[in-house]
Amino acid sequence: MAKKHKQVTWGGRFSAGPAELMLKFSESVSFDHRLAPFDIAGSKAHSAMLAHVGLITTRERDAIHSGLDAILQEISAGKFKWDAQLEDVHMNIEQALTKKVPAAAKLHTARSRNDQVATDMRLWFKHACGELAAKLLSAQQALLAVATANREVLIPGYTHLQRAQPVYLAHHLFAWLEMLERDRLRFEHVAAQANWCPLGSGAIAGTTLPIDREFTAKQLGFVDAKGRPQVTQNSMDTVADRDVFIEFAQACALVGVHFSRMAEDLILWSSAEFKFVELPDAFCTGSSLMPQKKNPDSCELLRGKSARLQGNLHTLLTLAKGLPMTYNRDLQEDKPPVFDSYDQTALCADVFAGTVGGMTVHTDKCAAAVADPALLATDLADYLVERGVPFREAHHAVGAVVQLAEKNAMQLDHLPTEEVMKLHKGFGADWAEVFDLQRAMAKRQGTGMPGPKQLNRQMQRWQKRLGGKV
Ligand code: ARG
Repeated sequence: MAKKHKQVTWGGRFSAGPAELMLKFSESVSFDHRLAPFDIAGSKAHSAMLAHVGLITTRERDAIHSGLDAILQEISAGKFKWDAQLEDVHMNIEQALTKKVPAAAKLHTARSRNDQVATDMRLWFKHACGELAAKLLSAQQALLAVATANREVLIPGYTHLQRAQPVYLAHHLFAWLEMLERDRLRFEHVAAQANWCPLGSGAIAGTTLPIDREFTAKQLGFVDAKGRPQVTQNSMDTVADRDVFIEFAQACALVGVHFSRMAEDLILWSSAEFKFVELPDAFCTGSSLMPQKKNPDSCELLRGKSARLQGNLHTLLTLAKGLPMTYNRDLQEDKPPVFDSYDQTALCADVFAGTVGGMTVHTDKCAAAVADPALLATDLADYLVERGVPFREAHHAVGAVVQLAEKNAMQLDHLPTEEVMKLHKGFGADWAEVFDLQRAMAKRQGTGMPGPKQLNRQMQRWQKRLGGKV
């Protein structure tokens, strides 16, 4: 306690250093060290700008640059000694640099950790969004491969978890592709939101020194499609703003919800009750007690992780809600949930791709399930509609057919034609042709529908969009 303080960056007005407990409580280097490459990139751009406007010499800039390069190498090689007493990644790097390069004492000119950490994180978000989008793309490619390999397979589609209407398995998988496609675009959007350079906002009110914010922004790639620099427009908002954090966590949470829903389908499909698919051994576990068990743990964990991703979003929303303008130290707590969301989303995408990539489809079980003629009861109503019967009346008439089948414990399509024709004058001798599954599918022609023509169209669309080998 109260030892000689090491906080050379801010310790000038203190006569005693922080308590050990306070150091432990307030350090963030244990988790923000992963920002190091971005912090170093930011410092290189900032010092380049300082030289550009004449606040440091080009020799000083070059010394700072080579010092930072050396530190990055040490960090990558695992040789850098992180010191919790120096609080965070920014001060650790600055102190290490100062030991190597005297000019480093000028690096923090016209900069605060407030605009520095905002910059590091925006750079990190741009990188993280790209990585996650790429992982989602791989997961989509794995799905497309399953769809392509099983393009003929039909299954019942469900509403309320009750058999509803027949669909191609690929149509179901393409529904998942749509979800993941929106997720991928959402990360592009978050990356665009992050693409504004905070540096120059200082602690809260910029600087009196003649800096060039656009120069720094360009150096760091905070530019629009035409290469024009993008800098944040209000210094107070810049150091207080955590919207991108929340948007990123939200995008991850939604990916989590999507994976969770897909995982739930896979859990159902792999159960003995459905048996549409066999999940790969590599992503399942057994029971220590029941020898026969093969549990879909990867899918259950995908479902479970979504709770954690939602929790991270909630943490960030709550963290931001009561804060007075502008930066408050509370905001240091913004990083663990964001990093966790990234790590878990990345893992989920890989595990999902591995699970679907290794699964096999039990085509016999799918065929048996989709052979249920009740799945085409709606088609029978449409048949009446085509013969001039108003839909409400047709629905009612088919309801009576269903009831009759249930009463006689018969399959819908096995009912005697005379009996059916008695139920409504619209039924003709050809009524049972409706139950030809291939014909029924071929009639679903419109955009977005599961007919074979549409399926081919969608297959081509996804192959074009997702590329890769399918
Ligand atoms: N480690 C701090 C954080 O992540 C950096 C910013 C600190 N700024 C300050 N004025 N203490 O929020």
